[in-house]
Amino acid sequence: MRIENPEQMAELGARMAAELGAGDLVLLNGELGAGKTTLTRGIGAALGVRGAVASPTFVLARTHPRDGKAPLVHVDAYRLTSAMELDDLDIDYSSSIVIVEWGADLLEGIADEWLSVDIVRPHGGEGISNAAADETDDETDDETDDVEPREVTITAHGPRWADSPLLG
Ligand SMILES: Nc1ncnc2c1ncn2[C@@H]1O[C@H](COP(=O)(O)OP(=O)(O)OP(=O)(O)O)[C@@H](O)[C@H]1O
Ligand SMILES: [Mg+2]
Repeated sequence: MRIENPEQMAELGARMAAELGAGDLVLLNGELGAGKTTLTRGIGAALGVRGAVASPTFVLARTHPRDGKAPLVHVDAYRLTSAMELDDLDIDYSSSIVIVEWGADLLEGIADEWLSVDIVRPHGGEGISNAAADETDDETDDETDDVEPREVTITAHGPRWADSPLLG
């Protein structure tokens, strides 16, 4: 599907949040600045998590609690080099909603099923400054980053997601 701007990315996050519960795992794929954290922020907002969802630049995983409900665990696997390192984070998958950026090669062997979200910038590559701007993670980001459409593809891995309304 085509996502025109960050607001639509957040709306997609809200549609995903409606389908997510404890034990669910979502893998976000896409180059630097693709919109993985923007999508996660939309999911977190719709889930009503406590704490701002940001790029976990200096932490590998951040847990966002929710009152009486499964927490959102946001993992940035960019600096992880092995599935063992991901495993070492000791994430309680069964009682959390887990979202992993950059984990494509790491999930095999750790999890049986997950929802995969691929985000592609049609004009990809030229906007690596988005990632640099993201490091500062301040409020001015949205004004300085170019708004460009993204192509988003959602795929199911395993029976849990086979009939999901999110696919298509
Ligand atoms: N159509 C769009 N969808 C999502 N984000 C967009 C779109 N157009 C522009 N943007 C901007 O692109 C940037 C995406 O940054 P974001 O941190 O979400 O990417 P990321 O994939 O998490 O990057 P990283 O790999 O560095 O973690 C944001 O500044 C956002 O405002
Ligand atoms: Mg990110």
